[in-house]
Amino acid sequence: MKIINRRQFLQLLGYGAASIAGSKFLSACSSFSSQSPTSVYQGDPDVEIRLTAQPGEQQIFSSPATKVWCYKGEVIKGSGESLLTIPNSYLGPIFNLKKGTKLRVHFINEIPQETIVHWHGLHVPENADGHPRFAVDQGQTYVYNYQVMDRAGSYWYHPHPHGITGPQVYQGLAGMFLVHDEEEESLSLPRGDYDLPIVIQDRVFDGDNQFVYEPAVFGMFGDQILVNGQPEYNLSVDRGVYRLRLLNGSNARIYKLAWEDGAPLQVIGTDGGLLEEPITRDYITMAPAQRLDLWVDFRNWEPGSTPKLVNLPSEVIGGGETFTIFSASIRETEGESLELPQAFPSHEALDPAQAVNADSPRLFELGMEMGMQWTINGRTFEMTDVARDERVNLGDVEIWEFYNTGGMGMGSRGMMGGMAQAHPMHIHGLQFKILERQVDPGFEDLHQSVSGGFVDEGWHDTVLVLPGERVRVLMQFTDFTGLYMYHCHNLEHEDMGMMRNYRVDS
Ligand code: C2O
Ligand code: CU
Ligand code: CU
Repeated sequence: MKIINRRQFLQLLGYGAASIAGSKFLSACSSFSSQSPTSVYQGDPDVEIRLTAQPGEQQIFSSPATKVWCYKGEVIKGSGESLLTIPNSYLGPIFNLKKGTKLRVHFINEIPQETIVHWHGLHVPENADGHPRFAVDQGQTYVYNYQVMDRAGSYWYHPHPHGITGPQVYQGLAGMFLVHDEEEESLSLPRGDYDLPIVIQDRVFDGDNQFVYEPAVFGMFGDQILVNGQPEYNLSVDRGVYRLRLLNGSNARIYKLAWEDGAPLQVIGTDGGLLEEPITRDYITMAPAQRLDLWVDFRNWEPGSTPKLVNLPSEVIGGGETFTIFSASIRETEGESLELPQAFPSHEALDPAQAVNADSPRLFELGMEMGMQWTINGRTFEMTDVARDERVNLGDVEIWEFYNTGGMGMGSRGMMGGMAQAHPMHIHGLQFKILERQVDPGFEDLHQSVSGGFVDEGWHDTVLVLPGERVRVLMQFTDFTGLYMYHCHNLEHEDMGMMRNYRVDS
């Protein structure tokens, strides 16, 4: 059983480009207030895609089916492999594109709420970033034009409307976005059926198999794990090497992942693509929105065995018990017999000494005000508000420091549920380097319960900032001016206001 049949292209719903006028989308067309595309590249797009957010049903358990919202895609122009589907899943099609591709996406909103699509991790112009001020109502379209400029890697996309991102992602709106480039193609890495997405999400179901969205102030935590949209996920694999692209697509849950038998994990990539060299961890810590690419050699297990990837309990997520994320079943069939490369081509370095604020990094304090509102420097989200200390200059290299003051001022384990609040901080429009972490006295134990699983090497767009921790990151603002966002990627924290704009000025 293959998770994704790479040759199984996205169904074009039975229509070719010539007959699109007959598709159901165009019936709604008269009411579109379509925005005219603002091209940032010269000429026509190489790939053109129609992406629709729509209500649907998915058989997650035997029956009844679960009502979901999902992204459906159609390739209007370009290779049919530009989109790949995950069978039996509410997850959106996987964008599968080469670096340099000039992309146009016609996004159509058919859900009964305003929404907009954000391309998480991608370096795109302001008007393609999915800022909530661009949200469109049901029946409307938003056209994205951008060139894929990022390194090969595992990115993703999801809704970003103001205040309702959490419930929309929870209802099923999310998908992966893979970028390929020549650098990566020159390496002997597992490809095709040996290169698989592992999207980890947690949900609560009611007795009728319907999603229950009832978040606490800490966020929405599920008691049922879904991988690629399915419960009790089993990956049937050959005895060979796989690239597993893990995405923590959960709203709020932080995972501490390990092989049940203690086998080490080989990490080859992070949010922003391949590492300089593979690294080994006994376990990996993954906060919402983070990606880690694993190199897994299933020859390390006997045919017929069923190694399990499990979640280990940790203080950061309030203890709990070990539970299974997915299991693999190892077939007799010989698969890819690749050797783990010693190093991957180096990527552009960014030198902290280049930072214009190397002496006094921009400080962002993460906290909570009045017991109910998550804040950044005491502020919450306002649609177009940019404070003085949120303006940066195009071309500048900067260091930002996120300081998690320790939750609610009640120590590492506040009164509210006994859970310390960690904040996975995400910056739009770029990838950054993680420079250092500093832990306040009194928070060492909490830190040590997950820090062995941090992969701070490589490029990132999201970094977990634990209670009592200061994390410094290094980035450069290139190519595009305009309004971007930075926020906590615990989606409930985000929806409650733990999000701000930053503006790149020329
Ligand atoms: Cu994946 Cu603004 O977020
Ligand atoms: Cu993002
Ligand atoms: Cu948060």
